[in-house]
Amino acid sequence: ALLGAAAALGGAAAFGRPAPAAPAELPPPVAPVAERIVERTLVAAERPGTLPCLPGRSLPLWTFGPRPEDSVIRLRRGERLVAHVSNRLTRPGEHISIHWHGIRLPNDQDGVPYLTQQPIEPGGDHSYSFVPPDTGTFFFHTHCNTVEQLGRGLAGILIVEGDETEPYDADEIVALRDWRIADDGSFLPFLTPEGAGKAGSFGTIRSVNGAADPDIAVPASADVRLRVLNIDPTRIVEIGIEGAEAAVVAIDGLACPPFPLRSWRMGPAMRADLVVRTPRDGGAATLVDYFSAAPVPLARLVAGGPDRRTGAFDPAPLRRAAIAPPVLEGAERLPFVFSATATGAAVAALADDPDGPPLGSLCLSAGSFWAINKQAWPADGHTRLPPPLALLERGRTYRFELQNVTPRMHPIHIHGHSFTVLGSNKRSLPPHIADTVLLLPKERLDVAFVADNPGAWMFHCHIIEHQETGMMGYVRVA
Ligand code: C2O
Ligand code: CU
Repeated sequence: ALLGAAAALGGAAAFGRPAPAAPAELPPPVAPVAERIVERTLVAAERPGTLPCLPGRSLPLWTFGPRPEDSVIRLRRGERLVAHVSNRLTRPGEHISIHWHGIRLPNDQDGVPYLTQQPIEPGGDHSYSFVPPDTGTFFFHTHCNTVEQLGRGLAGILIVEGDETEPYDADEIVALRDWRIADDGSFLPFLTPEGAGKAGSFGTIRSVNGAADPDIAVPASADVRLRVLNIDPTRIVEIGIEGAEAAVVAIDGLACPPFPLRSWRMGPAMRADLVVRTPRDGGAATLVDYFSAAPVPLARLVAGGPDRRTGAFDPAPLRRAAIAPPVLEGAERLPFVFSATATGAAVAALADDPDGPPLGSLCLSAGSFWAINKQAWPADGHTRLPPPLALLERGRTYRFELQNVTPRMHPIHIHGHSFTVLGSNKRSLPPHIADTVLLLPKERLDVAFVADNPGAWMFHCHIIEHQETGMMGYVRVA
């Protein structure tokens, strides 16, 4: 029944061309190309600066370089990224590492402190080197004190080009994130007990590519690719386009059979590539967030110039990734139960109690609010690793039964692999592959994948306060 729902929706997702029944029927991946090396330098440092969404206020931002483009890396398929990373943060003990989110890379390049590498201490340097096997829309972020480092800006975009079967007319990055800024212009605490115990601490200012509700210039009557990334530590969005037809062509960077966009929920770390047929010259369409009662405008697509296309909207599919399809017959089923600990439940209840003690006075002991299979990531887990949540045999298919027994949503992310989403007990989902799946309250979501990448791989909630208060573990593939 779980599979049936997804397949039915896939069949209905038709534009002019016949609807593919499954991602396997997408155009094949492009042939491997000769390796070329692209070198980049990322220098993590505090760089006081202003954000376009908050003009005139200097903020103690942490970034990878002085210019916004220092945090955007574009590669062609087949190119090897060699990233030289320097940690020039000056706070004692503020180590970093870089995780290349969604990239199926060798384990020792995955950027998890103590698990896959020693952390990069202040003053230290480290180089990463890998050839991304898949095309698409990815990002990178630090994986140490992530709630603060990501909150202050240490994240970047990684685009691997070469997946288009027919070129679109434009290609825009749309990175969504909030900033937690107080009235006096300082950063608010990135981790709060009520946030960590509930849905997370939200930002006070929303932004798209750093700007508040910006205008993005696009060609008119054109098929424009929007690479939408939710890189916020906390906020779940439900994106839609008003004033134009749109389709989803990739999820988490990986091609899916194009389906019409009504609205699409994206938790932190999730990406969706859209194709939008833009209005005629002078017109505008709006990217909105439908998550709360009234739609929130996020950005305006302002069309200009001669019409590029006249036919009906029928967006070209992307090439599929060369990811081994799971073999469900005889696959081992592994249940993963996402729960609150007794402490986490108590803090959430206190946060709802107007007569209770102020939560700010509660001592936050990290690693105690949330758990996976009753195992909370220990507070000292970065230096003394807990046992893995599961041992997986290399080359075998596993079916993960993700069960959320909490009243919160959790975007669940696995490193080094991508899941084929089989289905949910609560909703129909189009057939797709993802590295992060949003688990709704009380939902059970089944995913499957071939454990073909050896090593120790993190498996955690991407609401960073949940991750840092226990909802994190790892699986070992050998
Ligand atoms: Cu973006 Cu461990 O994740
Ligand atoms: Cu969570």
